[in-house]
Amino acid sequence: MNEEINSILDRYGIPKESQFGGNRRGPHPASVNRPVHYPEWDEKPSDRGYVVSNHMINEPPERPFRIVVIGAGAAGIDFLHHAPKQLGDLGVEIVCYEKNPDVGGTWYENRYPGCACDVPSVSYSFPWKQNPNWRKFYSTSKEIWEYMKSIVDEEGMMKYIQLQCKIVSANWNDERSKWNVRVRRQYPGKDSSFEEWSEECDMILNGGGFLNDWKWPKIPGIKTFTGDLFHTAGFQEGYDLKDKTVAVIGAGSSGIQTVSAVYPEVKKLYTWVRSATWITAAIGQKFASKDGRNFAYTPEQRELFERSPETYHRYHKMIEHELNNRFRTVLRNSAESEEANAFAYNEMTAKLKTKPDILEAMLPRDFSVGCRRPTPDNGYLGALVGEKTKVLPGSIKSITEKGVVAEDGTEYPVDVIICATGFDTSFRPRFPIFGLNPDLPLAEKWAKIPASYLGISVDGFPNYFTYGGPFTPVAQGSVLPILSLLSKYFITVIKTMRVQHIRRLSPKPSAVEDFLEHTKTYLPRTVWADPCTSWFKQGTKDGDLIMWPGSRLSFFEALREPYLQDYDIEYFSRNRFGYLGSGFVDFEFKSPLENTWYLDEFSGRKEWKRDGVPYYQDPSEFEGLSEGILPSREIN
Ligand SMILES: Cc1cc2nc3c(=O)[nH]c(=O)nc-3n(C[C@H](O)[C@H](O)[C@H](O)COP(=O)(O)OP(=O)(O)OC[C@H]3O[C@@H](n4cnc5c(N)ncnc54)[C@H](O)[C@@H]3O)c2cc1C
Ligand SMILES: NC(=O)c1ccc[n+]([C@@H]2O[C@H](COP(=O)([O-])OP(=O)(O)OC[C@H]3O[C@@H](n4cnc5c(N)ncnc54)[C@H](OP(=O)(O)O)[C@@H]3O)[C@@H](O)[C@H]2O)c1
Repeated sequence: MNEEINSILDRYGIPKESQFGGNRRGPHPASVNRPVHYPEWDEKPSDRGYVVSNHMINEPPERPFRIVVIGAGAAGIDFLHHAPKQLGDLGVEIVCYEKNPDVGGTWYENRYPGCACDVPSVSYSFPWKQNPNWRKFYSTSKEIWEYMKSIVDEEGMMKYIQLQCKIVSANWNDERSKWNVRVRRQYPGKDSSFEEWSEECDMILNGGGFLNDWKWPKIPGIKTFTGDLFHTAGFQEGYDLKDKTVAVIGAGSSGIQTVSAVYPEVKKLYTWVRSATWITAAIGQKFASKDGRNFAYTPEQRELFERSPETYHRYHKMIEHELNNRFRTVLRNSAESEEANAFAYNEMTAKLKTKPDILEAMLPRDFSVGCRRPTPDNGYLGALVGEKTKVLPGSIKSITEKGVVAEDGTEYPVDVIICATGFDTSFRPRFPIFGLNPDLPLAEKWAKIPASYLGISVDGFPNYFTYGGPFTPVAQGSVLPILSLLSKYFITVIKTMRVQHIRRLSPKPSAVEDFLEHTKTYLPRTVWADPCTSWFKQGTKDGDLIMWPGSRLSFFEALREPYLQDYDIEYFSRNRFGYLGSGFVDFEFKSPLENTWYLDEFSGRKEWKRDGVPYYQDPSEFEGLSEGILPSREIN
């Protein structure tokens, strides 16, 4: 408040004793930098003790808002790109804890032979970061990691990221309206030494990854194997498989990539395909090379993309458009589904015709393409029929010191076993997290089904949001635009919390129940519900389906803006309108030129709405108007 004495009556030449108006005798302070505020106003609370604060609208509460982001994979990187710019004025602090020694998540960890993205490279990029230098139509894991790492470096994100720091627990303290998180910093070296500490934050954004918790298969004797044993997600990059006898267990996306990549190297390959599975058309096949094969961009093409971001953008949109149409194939008994089945059937029967026993074991008879996450042929079927390969359908009986024992008791001695056996996809957090109920950890609440609100939040767990949480459409096209959409949503929530002085929010239990009811009632119409084993059903054939009930675009629509009516909200003030405070908006004092924004917004002219028409503080421009003189400056 400006304390300058304002002797107005003097200025107007009015004697001090004159009696007029309702003000008590001056001098009065002026509202120069802030609105006038008298302490006595605070001494007149409402019957409930409510006091009007001295904030202006848009001014956040004094107490800073600390966000802990879990994970510096694609989700963490996306948030760190958007949030500091957009939340800078709102007293927000951000720290991102990453358990690994480097950033990049999936693409840092997964370096098994052949590991790549099966979504076209341009689609598997952040919508805000074009990469004209993609080497190929489909990119390797390493190249995607380099892309992510370069963003982190270019944008100076390491100032927010603490590596080798794992969140090991989180407890909500409602009295303090804070999360208490426990962080463990692992020191490099063999002695496994670490330090642990607790700290508070106002919000947790969990970007810990939905495919980040790999697991060993439950096969008796697995630990007794004396050769080299790997899981795909923990494969030692550069490990030499040349002339070795290798077993690859699993025929999901990781398994098929591994098999086709190792086949040329190895002396002998045994691979277990426990369940029938479709080998499908490539994702974005129409724009790939012949038969969906990968191809390299020429230097000229890359140069064009560099020179013309709009050309790149149009190319990106064309591919994305195609991927966005794929959801139709997921509806049971649709023409699109039938076509996907027919295409895959023809491909499999043609490519496996020399090995009818493999075809017999692999060809799905009772579920459609898309029931399991699509696994495009990248040379896999060719490797299966290769002379060095033995395909073993059915289960594995055990693993011995020497090798793998098949269902019929035959032992296959091998040098190396690669388990392409997948991840824990239960969505249950890997660390204890307690919300409003201090006796109910989230993992227990989700013991039966991970019931979330639209895949992002949970009732009873305030100020907690998840990227790629249960029911997110993670099997349709690239995940990256989804992460950007979620960042936008979370940032809008955070802005609202700061501006409206919200201390905590979590979805209403009824909103979670309604969403669950909708998904459970909807999903049986999809091929995901066919009787295949799939990680969408936690590896079962008939378990609960954890998948978004609709197209990826319908998810985008549902999460375009937060519907705060679905949330239980508590404010710092006992009155939800406490944020109206002093009755002014901050820009009335801080950037008064904005105070006619609505004239641009409602003008009906797109360019005015977008850019705003500048306000010239030059009254002389219209000075002679009443005398019929034209304004001094004419703007379009
Ligand atoms: C092999 C493979 C291939 C894939 N291919 C595709 C594809 O083609 N297209 C597609 O759209 N998606 C694909 N995916 C899915 C992929 O995971 C996502 O596209 C994307 O990487 C998800 O990013 P994220 O940041 O949410 O998770 P992640 O990339 O998994 O990153 C999570 C990060 O959180 C860290 N973290 C976890 N828990 C903690 C903790 N408690 N404390 C601190 N840090 C923690 C992890 O170390 C990790 O760095 C693939 C996944 C795998 C495994
Ligand atoms: N875009 C890509 O290129 C790419 C690459 C890799 C991964 N991913 C993502 O990661 C997800 C997971 O893929 P994933 O291949 O790692 O895992 P997955 O899809 O869960 O596949 C696991 C495979 O291992 C088999 N398996 C598990 N335990 C076994 C056991 N004890 N004995 C024999 N076989 C066993 C499973 O057989 P059953 O079917 O019989 O259970 C299945 O074939 C994918 O769906 C995808 O979302 C994507």
